[in-house]
Amino acid sequence: MIKLINIKKIYNKGKSNEFEALKDISFSIDDGELIAITGKSGAGKSTLLHVLACIDSYESGEYYLDDILIKKLSESKLAEIRNKKIGIVMQDFALIDDFSCFENVSLPIDFSKGKHSDTKERVMNALKSVGMDNMSKKPVNKLSGGQKQRIAIARAIINEPSIILADEPTGALDTKTSAEIMNLFHKLNQNGKTVIIITHDNEIAKQCDRIIEISDGKINSE
Ligand SMILES: Nc1ncnc2c1ncn2[C@@H]1O[C@H](COP(=O)(O)OP(=O)(O)OP(=O)(O)O)[C@@H](O)[C@H]1O
Ligand SMILES: [Mg+2]
Repeated sequence: MIKLINIKKIYNKGKSNEFEALKDISFSIDDGELIAITGKSGAGKSTLLHVLACIDSYESGEYYLDDILIKKLSESKLAEIRNKKIGIVMQDFALIDDFSCFENVSLPIDFSKGKHSDTKERVMNALKSVGMDNMSKKPVNKLSGGQKQRIAIARAIINEPSIILADEPTGALDTKTSAEIMNLFHKLNQNGKTVIIITHDNEIAKQCDRIIEISDGKINSE
C-alpha cells in the first residue's frame, strides 16, 4: 500500500531557479488498485511518479510504501526496494538501443541479488507475456513504438514487483496498439499488481478504478 502525506518536491532548491513541482500531495493507494494519474503538461505527473518509484527524493512530507518510510534510507536500501517492489515504465522507454530485447529485459535481473541461473527462462516468460518472445534477439532500435513499449513493460515486470508505474505508456501509440497495451496492464492488475498509469487520454483514464488529477503540483479532484 502507498500512502503520501503532504509531499512537497522542490527542484533546484536554494537556487534562483527554484521550483516547487509538488505541493502538499496526499493520497493513498491500496494494493491491487488500477489508478490513472492525469493532468496537463508540466503539472507534475512524472515528478510524482519518480517520487513514487523511489527514484527522486522529496523535501517534506512522508511517503510510506508498505509501511516503510521512504526517506533517509541509504541508496542501497532504496535500490533494493525499487528492485523488489517497483516496476517502472518510463515516458521515453529508457531502453538501451543497441541491446537486444532479451538483453534489455534481463537488465533488472543482473542488478538484483540472488542466483541468476533461471534468467533465460524468466526473460522468455516475460517476453511471452507481452507477446514479444519471437523477437528476443532483435535490437530494440529496430522495433516499432508499440513493440518498444511491450519490451519496456516486460523489463518492468521481470522481477515480479507488486507495483507497476507507467508514464504515458500509450502516449505515442495508435488507438489499436494503445488498446493492446492497456490489455497488458489490465491483465497484470487482474493478477494482483497495483498499476499506476500516467495518461492524458480520457479513454485510458476511464478504464481505471480511480483517477487522480494533478494541476500545478496539487491534487485537483479524486
Ligand atoms: N529536473 C528538473 N529540474 C527543474 N525543473 C523540473 C525538472 N523536472 C521537471 N521540472 C519542472 O517541474 C514541473 C513538472 O514537471 P513534470 O515532468 O513532472 O511534468 P508532467 O506533468 O510529467 O508533464 P508532461 O505531461 O509534459 O510529461 C514542470 O514545470 C517542469 O518544468
Ligand atoms: Mg511527464
